[in-house]
Amino acid sequence: MSYVVVTEKLTKRYGDRAVVQELDLRIPEGSVYGFLGPNGSGKSTTMKMLLSLIRPTSGRAEVLGEPMTRGTRRELLGRIGSLIESPPGYGHLTGRENMRIVQRLLGLDDRQIDLAVRTVRMERQMDKKVREFSLGMKQRLGIAMALARQPRLLILDEPTNGLDPAGIEEIRDLLRRLADGGVTVMVSSHLLGEIDRTATDLGILSGGRMIFQGTRDELFSAATPDVLIDCSDPRRAHEVLARQRGATLDNAVLRLPGLDDRAAAGVVAALVGEGIGVFGVRRDEQTLEEVFMSLTAGGGL
Ligand SMILES: Nc1ncnc2c1ncn2[C@@H]1O[C@H](COP(=O)(O)OP(=O)(O)O)[C@@H](O)[C@H]1O
Ligand SMILES: [Mg+2]
Repeated sequence: MSYVVVTEKLTKRYGDRAVVQELDLRIPEGSVYGFLGPNGSGKSTTMKMLLSLIRPTSGRAEVLGEPMTRGTRRELLGRIGSLIESPPGYGHLTGRENMRIVQRLLGLDDRQIDLAVRTVRMERQMDKKVREFSLGMKQRLGIAMALARQPRLLILDEPTNGLDPAGIEEIRDLLRRLADGGVTVMVSSHLLGEIDRTATDLGILSGGRMIFQGTRDELFSAATPDVLIDCSDPRRAHEVLARQRGATLDNAVLRLPGLDDRAAAGVVAALVGEGIGVFGVRRDEQTLEEVFMSLTAGGGL
């Protein structure tokens, strides 16, 4: 596995407060890496360190195979596109004029600019002034600016923040297309559901610490979804199981938390032993949000 971002104990302190603590990031090449965590958990601070916009207190960051330092920063940033916090762009200029500034600044050709604009599907809005853009259009223009240099790595800080569901879906779709085209995308969000299903890999922060890093599948297998049992006498089954198993009754379906498959089989046998007919046993479908809650409630991994 080759990684586009690797950090070793990356740490940022402000005074005696560590806002990012000993992060070991591993972002696989070609992934959409969802960088998730509540507000204030350290996402933006981490991304700024990766871009050398702020300096780590301790630890190291390697980006695109090279240590990110003051000395390598300039060359590396030529290969990284980023959108940090509010979208860039001058409001009194049109989209096209803003793109022209980027073009001159980076010495790009027309084809690169056209491709970036087409990728974010903004061709038809480029003659409008940016201050007349919707938030979603501003975010897409910001991403076009970041994409114009044809980066291998794109770092996007909360690009879905404040967008309506259609705007969020557009960004998701864009991220998928970029990853299909070979760009590695690191994308943060404090709303776990917003990049659920788009991210192939996840890093979850809580209070400046990484509480989970891995693939979506690994995350879901680290959590144990509730077992749901459909049976002939849910009320009695609930009485039988409530004390020792923490069962609850949910629309006449028994819900049992924290059971592995063997324990679930034991519960079924106990119910059958009580003369209760068991019609169906399944695991609840969990959202990323629920998995996250269960991980943080349990003190993380
Ligand atoms: N320049 C700074 N000085 C002091 N504290 C800061 C500074 N920048 C960020 N913080 C604090 O660091 C924590 C993490 O912030 P941030 O990285 O912006 O989190 P996130 O992007 O996950 O919302 C927050 O508690 C924030 O108040
Ligand atoms: Mg932030």
